[in-house]
Amino acid sequence: MAAQRTLSVRRNAARAPDRGNNARAPVVALLQTRRGSPRAPRRRRASAHPYEPPRPKRTDDPRTATTSAPVLDSIATRWSPRAFDADHSLPEGALRGVFEAARWSASASNTQPWRFIIARRGSESFAKIEAALMGFNQAWAGTATALVVNVAETLDVEGDEQPWAAYDLGQAVASYSLQARSEGLYVHQMGGFDRQAIRDSFELSAGQEPISVAAIGLLGDTDQLPDALRERELAPRSRRPLEEIVLVND
Ligand SMILES: Cc1cc2nc3c(=O)[nH]c(=O)nc-3n(C[C@H](O)[C@H](O)[C@H](O)COP(=O)(O)O)c2cc1C
Repeated sequence: MAAQRTLSVRRNAARAPDRGNNARAPVVALLQTRRGSPRAPRRRRASAHPYEPPRPKRTDDPRTATTSAPVLDSIATRWSPRAFDADHSLPEGALRGVFEAARWSASASNTQPWRFIIARRGSESFAKIEAALMGFNQAWAGTATALVVNVAETLDVEGDEQPWAAYDLGQAVASYSLQARSEGLYVHQMGGFDRQAIRDSFELSAGQEPISVAAIGLLGDTDQLPDALRERELAPRSRRPLEEIVLVND
């Protein structure tokens, strides 16, 4: 009951925009010189970020989350597809924003124990990661634009345990998944892979634990999937109600 009370929102509450720092102040026409003649407008400096990703809008896609309160578009429209567009490739610099989002995640004592192996389709690293996937993931993940191994640094430089490493890595992956979504990309995480094969392929040390693999890319045609997977791809997504997951809401 208490959960219900504080989790409800006013119907018409203003929605915060999804991309906070992109708002532009209105241009003010203050370009007069002292003699009163108009000065040519200055050229805008080239963006420090050369890749301008597409910005998706929320659609009426049935896979969009239904929520009892407004959430960011990138959260509502995030889901884990299996049909990726095998023709899509990422331009130079396209994943920078995604991994900047990971870099700026919170972590225990700011240890930042996340490491990433990023492999674009067609690369040797991509082939190694794909080969390490369990068969049920190999069946679809090869069409992703990139495969990423998410690695936790479980030991610090002195060899002591970093008990929050996997937790912190998970936060970083969540952050980059949402950043990817806000840039038009989708992320599908996988736990079904051969850890030892990844360790051997990328010569990971004892304190580097491959925790998950993520497929990143654009949506492809569901017809490319085997029948059983196509059905799952189109099935509605479900979640436990808020009231079930909030244990105490005093
Ligand atoms: C740690 C982790 C491991 C997962 N492992 C797999 C996997 O091996 N294969 C797979 O197809 N999906 C895997 N998933 C995806 C989940 O099945 C998916 O996130 C969940 O069903 C919720 O669906 P949604 O992401 O579309 O909301 C994994 C997700 C996480 C977070």
